[in-house]
This record gives sequence, structure tokens and C-alpha cells, in this order.
Amino acid sequence: MNKSPELDLERKEKWNSKIGVIFAVAGSAVGLGNFLRFPGQAVNNGGGAFMIPYIISFLLVGIPIAWCEWTMGRLGGRYGQNSGPGILYALWRRWPSKAVGAMMLLIPVVIYMYYVLLEAWCLDYCIEFTKGGFADLFAGVTAGVADHDAEVQAVVGATDEHWQTTFGMADHGILLQKGGRTIWLVLTCFLVNFVIIYQGVTRGIELFCKWAMPLLILCAIIILVRVLTLPNITSGLGFMWNPKWELLKDPQVWLAASGQIFFSLSVGFGLILCYSSYLHSNDDVVLTSLSASSTNEFCEVILAGLIVVPTAFLFLGAENATKGTFGLGFVTIPAIMHFMPLGNFFGAMWFGLLFLAAVTSSLSMLQPAIAFLEDGFGLRRRTSVTILGIVTAGGATLTMFFSRGLLALDHTDFWCNLMMIVAATCQVLIFGWIIGAARGVEEMNRGADLRVPKFMAFVIRFVTPTFLLIILVMWSYSKLPTYLDGMNPQTQGLTARHATYQEAVTAHYAEAELTEEAMTARIEELLGAKGDEIDAGTLPPWLQESHDAAEEAGRQASSDANIARLVFLGIVLFYILLIVLSDLACRHRIKWMIQQAERAGPGWEA
Ligand code: PFF
Repeated sequence: MNKSPELDLERKEKWNSKIGVIFAVAGSAVGLGNFLRFPGQAVNNGGGAFMIPYIISFLLVGIPIAWCEWTMGRLGGRYGQNSGPGILYALWRRWPSKAVGAMMLLIPVVIYMYYVLLEAWCLDYCIEFTKGGFADLFAGVTAGVADHDAEVQAVVGATDEHWQTTFGMADHGILLQKGGRTIWLVLTCFLVNFVIIYQGVTRGIELFCKWAMPLLILCAIIILVRVLTLPNITSGLGFMWNPKWELLKDPQVWLAASGQIFFSLSVGFGLILCYSSYLHSNDDVVLTSLSASSTNEFCEVILAGLIVVPTAFLFLGAENATKGTFGLGFVTIPAIMHFMPLGNFFGAMWFGLLFLAAVTSSLSMLQPAIAFLEDGFGLRRRTSVTILGIVTAGGATLTMFFSRGLLALDHTDFWCNLMMIVAATCQVLIFGWIIGAARGVEEMNRGADLRVPKFMAFVIRFVTPTFLLIILVMWSYSKLPTYLDGMNPQTQGLTARHATYQEAVTAHYAEAELTEEAMTARIEELLGAKGDEIDAGTLPPWLQESHDAAEEAGRQASSDANIARLVFLGIVLFYILLIVLSDLACRHRIKWMIQQAERAGPGWEA
């Protein structure tokens, strides 16, 4: 262990240029969330009307929190701190800052554990399009189809099957048994990420993002121009953007919009804290932050918003254009390429740009933890990279292993979405109430190319936290109960068994054409109420035939619930470990470094 903080403070890295830091932060923000998640969210949550809660969330949450995070990060840098726990502890020497700091490590690292798999799948699709693999697949299934509709069905069916196989969705463990190709791709992504991270902030992240970001934006613009010159594209644009105002009454739409802002902008959970700590203490944060956020919005709303759904609607119809994130990304888009002139070329370009976007994002998920290992324990780069490599490889392997129906991935994503809102709330409260909003805004404006107006202090202190708390309560109210229920193996098993028998009963009486009430009464008479245990011995013989299927469904549902528990437990244990490490580091090395820095007099803690 290197125990000399003085040395470290002198050796601290700083961004090389303003454009470099903008591209790095925009690189973190622009990712699969922009190109895959946004179009699905927007089209399914009101089209043009979605933009209202989206823009409100952007203004009340996205921008203010980003400013707070940039300011706190830059301040933390003055104390020689680059990690969440270090920065927050430097600004507020109390125990909660260690726990909140630990969250700033947890969230990005846990997201990385599944994000890297999506990255690998983009690489897989890019290679397939380059090799012409999809063209062969489509040629095989469309030979002799009768009409356009049948062709669409065949192509979508083929991409769907390809997707399910590539993701190993049929059963747990199959990716590790016969998914040799997938494993190699995931390893390649790990290698790419860790080699870049190993090079450091300026020679690794900054350099990579400086060419990757313009390149991917250029590719997206080329694709956009192609798409906008397609005949009839206006019908697709109308399908995507015609507002469905009535949906604005639905709280789910508001939740979806604010969730999208967090995930997409990468604000509130420690990345910006880490990246901005590599700024010089007088570098502008106000305009830089706005530039990075606007780059993200340009890529999300203009590029992704005009490309994905309109084209899907044009070629494949409404049903395929309204799929969710993965369906749109890995089934619909590849299928479009069959109908689009030069499909192979555009397919390879699209998935190539997604891959680049994913790498610039995943790099940012790793840097906070690397900085923590280096600052907090004085580990050398090689050691920290190795430790983080082992931890994330373990998590990614588990996510890959529990791949049936993408269970582990979905559960992890669920908890990360909740933690993002909690983390952001904690940060804005620390900024507004502990540091003090007025003092914070003054600091924000130091060296600013564009000054933040004074009323921002009010927004940060009252409006943003209130908005976040409302979101948090709404989220817990509407999602948590069903979710927690899904974590109970017993009730899940019973429900699945009941559902299988119920299907058999419905099929049995299909010809009797019973009214809905009569059918419900029949079901209850035979099976009892929903949560009741069913005694197979008392069932009529024709229903007993479903016994095996019901047992199997019950077993599977219980095992699914256990996986949900496992994911939850894993995240909780990991968080506890990080709190302990954060506490240890703050008590010793970080405290020490802060004292060193204080001799030079930043004098800023709350
Ligand atoms: N903002 C990224 C995207 O839109 O894909 C996702 C992301 C990046 C999430 C970094 C989390 C993170 F730490």
C-alpha cells in the first residue's frame, strides 16, 4: 500500500481540455438508454405528450442535480478526492456522507454488471450485420412467402428467435453451457473497458470519448438522413409523436419520464461527481454541464426519437413499433434492415454506434470505483483494476447465468432505478441543506462562462427535493407492493399452479359458452380462491391431467421468486460491504488526504 497522500495529491490527474470533459460526460450519458430505452418509453407513454413530463423532469431534476453534482465534484477535487465517499466526506464530515458515498459506488458498478452484457450483444449484432449473417437468416425464412405481411411475420419471427438464443432466454445456465460465442464477446467487452480504464482518465477515458462521441453522432446523423428521406416516413413520425394527451393523467407516465431522465443523463448517482472532480478548481461547471446534457438530449430526442420508432412503423407496422427496450432494439431494428435498402450496411453502422455509445457509458460506471480503491486504500491502478475486474466479472456471470426471461437483469435494473432516485435525493439534500443552496450556487458560479440565476438556490432547496420525494412515494406506492409479492416463492408458486389449472378449466368449458360470471363461479368451485392450496386429489379426472404442468409452473414461479430474492440480497450485501469500506477509507486514508489538502486551504466543508 502506498501510504503517502502528499505524493498522491501531486499526481492527481486533471482533464486535458474542456471539450474532452464534455465528451466524457456526454459519453457517459449517451448510451443504450438513449437509443433503445427512450423510443420505447416515449411511444408507449403518450408519444408527443410524453415530452411534457419529460421536459419538466429535465428542468426540475436533470439540470439542477447535474449542476449540484458538478459543483460538489469540483469541490471534492480540491481536497484531492475523486470518489463519491471521499468527495462527500470532504464536504460533510458526518457518517451519512459515507453511506451516501457508498451508494455512489454501488449503483454504477451494479449497473455495469448487466450493461456490459447489452454492450456485448450490440457487438454481436454489429459483427453479424458486417458478415451478412442476418441477410442469410432472412433469406432462409422469407423464401416463398406469399405477401408483405407474411414476410414481416417471418423476418420478425427469425430475429425474435435469434434474440432469444443470443440472450439465453430459454433457460438458466444455457449461455454458460453452449454460449461460447457470447462469452467471448462479453470477455472482449470487459477487455476493451478495462484496458481503457487502466490508461487513466485523460489517456484512457478522455481520449477514447474524444473520437468515439463525434464518430457515433456522425453515424447516427447519416442514418437519420437516410431515414428522413424514406418515402412515407411522415406516417411513422406521426405515429411516434402525435400526442395522446389523456395519458398525462396517468402517474405511470410521469414515473416513466423521470426514470428516463435519471438513467439517460447519468445524473444523481456519482458518475458526474467523479468526473467533475478531475476539473481544475476554476474550470466552468455551469455551461459545461449544460453542454453535456444538451448533447445527450440531442442524441436522445432528435436522433433516436426520429429514427427508431418511425422506421419500425413504416416497415413493420404498429405492433412492432411499440415494443419495449429490448424488443425494439434487438428484434425490431434488425428486422427493419431486411426491408431497408443497404440494410447490412446500415445495420452494422447502427449496432456499431450502439456499441461505441455503450462503451463510453460503461467506462463511466467503472471509474468511480477505481478512484475509490486508489484514493481510499492507496492501491495502485493495476491492483484496483484487477479487483474491480473480478467483482464485476462475478456479477456479470451471475446475470448471464440467470438468463431465463432475463430475470436477473430485470431485477437488477429494477433496484437500480429505485436507488438512482434515492441517491439523487440524498445528493440534492446535501447540497441544498448541508452545504447550503445559496453558498452552493455561489460556488457553482465560480469561473462560470454562464451564471446560474439566484433563484436556482430556491429550486435546489425546495422544488427539486419535493419533486423527487413525490416521485419516490409514487414509485413505491405503484410498484413496490406487486414487486415484493413477486419475491415470495410460496404465493408465486400457488398463483402459477392456480393459473395453469384455471387455463385448463377455461379450455374445458370453452364450448359451453359460459358467461364470464358463470365461468368465474365454475373456476372458484373447482379450484377455490386464488391464494388457496389446491389438493389435486379432489379435482375431477380431466383436470388432474394438468397436474404435472401445474406443478412445473409452480416450481418455476417459486424459483423465479427466489432469484428475485437472491438479486435483492446480493445488492444489499454488496452495499453493506461498500459502507464498511467507505467508513474504513474515510476514517483513515481519505481523512488523511483531506487534512493534507486543507493545509493548502480550500476550507470548504459544511
Ligand atoms: N446514461 C446511460 C445510457 O443512457 O445508456 C446509462 C448509464 C450510464 C447508466 C452510466 C448508469 C451509469 F452509471
